[in-house]
Amino acid sequence: MSIPSMRTEALLDEFAVRVVFNTSSPTGLFHLRLAFESGRFHQKHHHVQAGQFLMLDVQDANGFRFRRPYSLMSWNAETQEGDIIYKVVGEGSKALSHWQAGQKSVALSSLGNAFPTVAGQNPRHTILLAGGVGLAPLILWAEEGRQKGWQDDDMPTLVFGVRSQAEAQSLLPHLARLIPLDKLLLCSDDGSLGFHGHVVACLEDQTPEELDHFEHAFVCGPTPMMNACVKTAPQLLPNANVYVSLENHMPCGTRACFGCVVGQAHGGLPLKVCEAGPVFEASQLLWGEKGLDTVGFAGACDAFPVFDTTTSAEGGV
Ligand SMILES: Cc1cc2nc3c(=O)[nH]c(=O)nc-3n(C[C@H](O)[C@H](O)[C@H](O)COP(=O)(O)OP(=O)(O)OC[C@H]3O[C@@H](n4cnc5c(N)ncnc54)[C@H](O)[C@@H]3O)c2cc1C
Ligand code: FES
Repeated sequence: MSIPSMRTEALLDEFAVRVVFNTSSPTGLFHLRLAFESGRFHQKHHHVQAGQFLMLDVQDANGFRFRRPYSLMSWNAETQEGDIIYKVVGEGSKALSHWQAGQKSVALSSLGNAFPTVAGQNPRHTILLAGGVGLAPLILWAEEGRQKGWQDDDMPTLVFGVRSQAEAQSLLPHLARLIPLDKLLLCSDDGSLGFHGHVVACLEDQTPEELDHFEHAFVCGPTPMMNACVKTAPQLLPNANVYVSLENHMPCGTRACFGCVVGQAHGGLPLKVCEAGPVFEASQLLWGEKGLDTVGFAGACDAFPVFDTTTSAEGGV
């Protein structure tokens, strides 16, 4: 099995964006459509590859501006419009939830790497494991495939886990347009949609014959879900190379701070998710008992000698 390249050419710019609509579902899942205008510096058109993210400028109630990372779930290169699904978890997403059609802002985009292309290998041997809003980059990957001409037979299998049916309801038509129904495995924590249980339980419910042919697994969702997928993949998906797309807290998104670092499995300096990711081969990362080892700012200060004030000038950086 060849390991595909994951680096993408940086097409970073600051784009003016305008809200086309921003709707909410009863479960608090928001659907935001943004129109991208030309970039401030050099990009006439916005480009994005599945896995990459943008840093969206938001303002809190006191007028304080800051950026938050989001993935596009859908991208229309012709109209230059992209869709985001998001949940309100804190100040930034709360401010976002108040945006109305016509609201203007800016977004740094496109940042980070993309999911590997599976050139030469049929995408039908790829399984996408998505939890909640982690669906976004995975479904964009499937959308890109459709634009390249993938037919129903070629499409990957998608396992999509949500808390309850209401959370997924507004997304189902979009999913059904992209993924054939026999390749769409829906599951919910409360049993109101599809299989009753989480993504890993849904995989355990499949026969080995149904899973053995997968050569790649792309995972995105809440950390406990990604942790469970990575832990059980050797048994459930024994022939698959597992990739994760991390949704860590990212204060800057542009390598300027140490707020997003994660440990490496085989030692070495911690990695900045915004620089080396957000897509990683799972085996590259350090997974602890409770999940991914997010080193945190203090850990990063210990690991990166640039912060070691006890180091002499000769021995230092
Ligand atoms: C590459 C990438 C893509 C993302 N794509 C999406 C997306 O498509 N849709 C979406 O809803 N979210 C996505 N996220 C997560 C999103 O960026 C955070 O939910 C958002 O930054 C929270 O900002 P806030 O100001 O509302 O919350 P904050 O005020 O920053 O935080 C509020 C609370 O949530 C916790 N928190 C914040 N961010 C995270 C996180 N990433 N993981 C766990 N806990 C967190 C904080 O510790 C705090 O307790 C993505 C993140 C990354 C890195
Ligand atoms: S978010 Fe600041 S370095 Fe990654």
